[in-house]
Amino acid sequence: MRTFKGRNLLGINELTRDEVLFLLDTADDLKRARKMGQPHEYLRGKSLAGIFATQSTRTSCSFETAMTNLGGHMMWLDKDRIWSGSAGAENWHDTIMTLTRYVDGIAYRPVTRELLEETERLSTVPVINASCPVEHPTQALADVMTMREHGGGSVKGAKVAFLWGYNELNPPAGLTNSTLVMAAKMGFDVTIACPRDMDPDPRYIQWANEEAPQTGARINIVHSYEEATKDADFINIYSWVSPEIFAEGPETGYRGNPKFAAYKETLKNWIVTKAVVDTAPKQVKVMHCLPASRGEEVSDEVLDAPNSIIFDEAENRLHTIKALLALLLQ
Ligand code: CP
Repeated sequence: MRTFKGRNLLGINELTRDEVLFLLDTADDLKRARKMGQPHEYLRGKSLAGIFATQSTRTSCSFETAMTNLGGHMMWLDKDRIWSGSAGAENWHDTIMTLTRYVDGIAYRPVTRELLEETERLSTVPVINASCPVEHPTQALADVMTMREHGGGSVKGAKVAFLWGYNELNPPAGLTNSTLVMAAKMGFDVTIACPRDMDPDPRYIQWANEEAPQTGARINIVHSYEEATKDADFINIYSWVSPEIFAEGPETGYRGNPKFAAYKETLKNWIVTKAVVDTAPKQVKVMHCLPASRGEEVSDEVLDAPNSIIFDEAENRLHTIKALLALLLQ
């Protein structure tokens, strides 16, 4: 296994299966240490630049809490704090070249994948993708940690129904793509149920299908909930639009884009209700990366049911991000 020290993480395909397992084991250890009050200040004196171009609750707060727990510090940087982003104030090159003289790592949630890749090229310190329109690797790590906890310690052979839900928040497809790669890598089955126009990025379907035979994973794309839920161990609810539409901004996504206006009424039928969950085996667990658009993509009854593990999933954002930081920034 290659050392983690000094590496970037832009996508799940940069990790081997053994590296994912090592990260998950490290996250388990750190979760245990935190619960037992054992100090784990492996990054004492180190700093992280947390650059968030869009809103974030779980990812940003997990990075910040992780750095504090590890004895380090995160600077929250958004367009209201740094010059870059204000009209003509400072270019991205000068911003990143300056920051890398101060910090030991950068967690970045950009508006486009291109900005993330440019940052990786410029930076001399590890760059971690804090969700871009194409991938959300830290969420995929937390999801697999949560599935392991609720699946008897292993995800191999588990069946995940990954259900698209209508959501006017206009989120990117990053988690869908990261989940496809993660499933193929870790050997669990994923069946994505979505409207035909929302089929995932063909490049990610191809990558997943190429890797899947090595682990026995099966990747399916279907266009009704029932085809995905009938034998599911986990239902994971998410919504996405294409990177192109995401980059246009929320006002031109479902709300303003003529293509979506035409489909809107049909898309609104894509809500995960209790009746949908009842088509799965009764031991199924319900996941959602949050934020959820309650009543739009998923009902309250589903998210608040006893088989919902959404807050375990949210908590595991902290432990997996902490493992990642401890290993990359050591
Ligand atoms: N799941 C997730 O990425 O949440 P935030 O947007 O709140 O960070």
